[in-house]
Amino acid sequence: MTEQKATNVHWHEGDVNRSDRENLLGQKGATLWFTGLSGSGKSTVAVALEQALMSRGKLSYRLDGDNIRLGINKNLGFSAEDRTENIRRIGEISKLFVDTGIITLSSFVSPYRADRDLVRELHEQAGMDFIEVYVDVPLDVAESRDPKGLYKKARAGEIPNFTGISDPYEEPLNAEVVLNSHEMSLEEEIEILIKLLEERGLISAA
Ligand code: ADX
Repeated sequence: MTEQKATNVHWHEGDVNRSDRENLLGQKGATLWFTGLSGSGKSTVAVALEQALMSRGKLSYRLDGDNIRLGINKNLGFSAEDRTENIRRIGEISKLFVDTGIITLSSFVSPYRADRDLVRELHEQAGMDFIEVYVDVPLDVAESRDPKGLYKKARAGEIPNFTGISDPYEEPLNAEVVLNSHEMSLEEEIEILIKLLEERGLISAA
């Protein structure tokens, strides 16, 4: 747990709360947390889900590893410590988005179980849905896709601490959803996720 540094700070409640905002939007806020190797298909699924939700009149927002690392987390690298801080911050940002009533699609390698569990705990403590989606493909599949050419560089020793090659990935033990993007079509994956959102009452059935 990160230590609380500032003292004499207190949470301030407004007059409009999360359920007011959810009623306004006609949906419930939640975080779908996509975890998996680089190249596993996390972002692809999140992009397609965002579009599917938009076409049903539901508001979602994607938080994505590379984008976040170009902005708010530009001061973080890929050491275990920095990855933990990366995920902690994204966890807090995801919570803020959920509090607005938005379905938050967070795609991060997030290789450490303890980091993901912390984000789950932060959500559960706040009474928020946290849905862990493990985008599970074998390393050789992710490596053969190599959309950014990073595996090639990692194998050549040009990227230290590269997840799956020279850095660990700890598989989820209790993910709510497992997607095998090498065996399922994107349409099937989206159907599974939409169905889950409906079953949980986060969006109404079409
Ligand atoms: S995390 O481990 O801290 O969750 P994050 O999802 O933010 O990682 O960023 C991962 C992305 O950064 C990868 O998709 C890849 O494009 C890029 N990347 C660059 N260096 C590394 C590395 N050493 N390990 C993993 N991904 C890396």
